[in-house]
Amino acid sequence: MNSRRTTAAALLLAAFMLVSAACGDGGSKTQADTAAGTSTPPASSNTSSTGTSADASKSKPSETPAASTNGQNQASGTAGVKQTAQTDTKSGKKTDDIQVVANPADVAVLVNKTNKLPDSYKPQDLVDPNVPFTFKEKLEKRKMRKEAAAALEKLFEAAKKDNLPLAGVSAYRSHETQKTVYNRYVQKDGEAAANKYSAKPGHSEHETGLAIDVAGSSGKCAAQDCFGATKEAKWLAEHAADYGFIIRYPEGKEGITGYQYEPWHLRYVGVDTAKAIVKQGVTLEEYVKNAVPVTKPKS
Ligand code: DAL
Ligand code: ZN
Repeated sequence: MNSRRTTAAALLLAAFMLVSAACGDGGSKTQADTAAGTSTPPASSNTSSTGTSADASKSKPSETPAASTNGQNQASGTAGVKQTAQTDTKSGKKTDDIQVVANPADVAVLVNKTNKLPDSYKPQDLVDPNVPFTFKEKLEKRKMRKEAAAALEKLFEAAKKDNLPLAGVSAYRSHETQKTVYNRYVQKDGEAAANKYSAKPGHSEHETGLAIDVAGSSGKCAAQDCFGATKEAKWLAEHAADYGFIIRYPEGKEGITGYQYEPWHLRYVGVDTAKAIVKQGVTLEEYVKNAVPVTKPKS
């Protein structure tokens, strides 16, 4: 009896840890990913507090999918790496212009509503960045790809020097974890609402190991709209690119990125690309689309 109870308790704890690892992204209005691992799904509000640009977040974010590459070759614009996408013809099912990216391991890879990662993709160089997180456990969501992790350590050091210490909230997620996260949000808010702040499995940058949600070291407003009004958010908007990160889902660009404003979601793209994106005032979608192809299409 006792051992049965112990087993049941262990199973319950394991399930709890899984859900805990799953939350912490996507418009959450919760104190996401605290050590206790709250699993409350995010509210579906579209309101965003302040921001650095136009107050477009007060309007409903568009559900228009992110700019499609339409299967055309893309160039990253930095290393001249081709971002060739192929049509996903799995099961012969119509894919509505969803492409499977051919370069999932490229630091400039475009992953969005129309560009998905191969189902089996798992980054090969995941490490634990030496930065504080809003939780103590050694969970999957601490991990980032090596290059991004090193850049993150520098970013956090710089923020600390400016008296704005940061904490990680949620970084890498496996395909399976993203499936759990997304399904939870669909159950909570319905599919249409969830699609505005949570990516379907295969479509999340968190699966690349190049993205992380961050907060101030207190964890206040972690992955919540109110983070946009914090000093940390303003600091990140100003300095993230110096370390190779962009605010991936900017305010007012919901119709292009496909997601509402997320001042906490940082994406590593490399310093040159990040600086160019900020200078041009564009999203990764626009930047990749405007990049000059490395090969001329045959006429
Ligand atoms: N919140 C972003 C869009 C994600 O789920 O990856
Ligand atoms: Zn995120």
